[in-house]
Amino acid sequence: MGNKIKIISVVGARPNFMKVAPLHRIFQQMTDKINHLLCHTGQHYDYEMSQAFFQDLGLPEPNFYLGAGSGSHAEQTGKIMIEFEKICTQTKPDLVIVVGDVNSTIAATLTATKMGILTAHIEAGLRSFDRSMPEEINRIATDSICDFYFVTEQSGIDNLLREGHNPEKIFFVGNTMIDSLVYILDKIEKSNILSILGLESNKFALMTLHRPSNVDDPNQLASLIEVFEFICNQIRLVFPIHPRTRKNIELFGFKNKLENIKNLIITEPLGYIDFVKLMKNSRFVMTDSGGIQEETTYLKIPCITMRTTTERPITCQIGTNRLVPPEKSRLIQAVQDVLYGSPKDSQIPKFWDGKAAERIVDIILQIFGKEN
Ligand code: UD1
Repeated sequence: MGNKIKIISVVGARPNFMKVAPLHRIFQQMTDKINHLLCHTGQHYDYEMSQAFFQDLGLPEPNFYLGAGSGSHAEQTGKIMIEFEKICTQTKPDLVIVVGDVNSTIAATLTATKMGILTAHIEAGLRSFDRSMPEEINRIATDSICDFYFVTEQSGIDNLLREGHNPEKIFFVGNTMIDSLVYILDKIEKSNILSILGLESNKFALMTLHRPSNVDDPNQLASLIEVFEFICNQIRLVFPIHPRTRKNIELFGFKNKLENIKNLIITEPLGYIDFVKLMKNSRFVMTDSGGIQEETTYLKIPCITMRTTTERPITCQIGTNRLVPPEKSRLIQAVQDVLYGSPKDSQIPKFWDGKAAERIVDIILQIFGKEN
């Protein structure tokens, strides 16, 4: 090991960028101790899905871009592994940091671990217990081989201990995604997305949808579109469309139907600042995303999660999240509860305070014996 700790952080898909940005900012302040390199696998490559986030989060151009792109799971994971191995051979990092649960996460972990490079997983231990989700396989596989576990909520610790991991390698640090949210909240005044879309605070709902289980099956997607129609009879609904969802809507012939729903405002995927501005000003959020369940809990905005399971149970236990199976009648009932029922009491989970990255960096310095 040289004098400085050489770290490569790996990002690939949209929800990764905000998990690494706060770490990068701190690493930049300690260049005497840490040489931090950023590797973008290219899993997400559209401007709106990738570069826009780098800009909003103040992330620099990545040091390495692997250009993996889309493909089947095996193709995508395999391409990332082949390219990432070359980067590791070339740069010989002391530590590889991976975040979240996307294909880039497992690909980089598997590559680095087999090369004998230490790996740290940020957002470790989350489990939906639904192995039909590709992310669940990525989470289990990553945690089974990585070296250090940085955990966002108590369930993560419980799951890792149940799976037999060494408690000394598990660190409850909080949530770096919330660090980014806290950082960006200061900047959302700059966004004029409300006026661009002609919206007034608290008079619209916001929705995201992209899970294969919701958008890859035409019958399921058709029944969700009926739910959107119901919502749009009550309130305006903003729907930034993920590329996977847009593709399927076109493929299944639902484009016209969707465009004809009054009060439905369809947009391209939005940048982070605009999206947070919308979340913060919305009456409620409908989603099947992972991270949005956490962001709405922090913002105290009601969230309906259109899934049967969540790997982030704290958001339901003490946050604003409601887990609702994605069936028409259940979802309509949930929307009515949110719109006309009494609000759910909620709290912000422990360590979701904007300081998770600081805790992580302190622990990394200790691991490498570089603390002051
Ligand atoms: C991936 C993650 C998911 C995460 C999501 C956030 C995995 C297994 N899934 O899902 O956990 O919640 O990112 O967005 O890693 N596409 C584009 N442009 C892009 C990226 C994708 O057009 O920049 C299209 C491609 O046609 C691709 C499809 O979207 O086939 C799906 O992309 P992919 O990266 O495979 O998975 P996501 O659904 O985005």
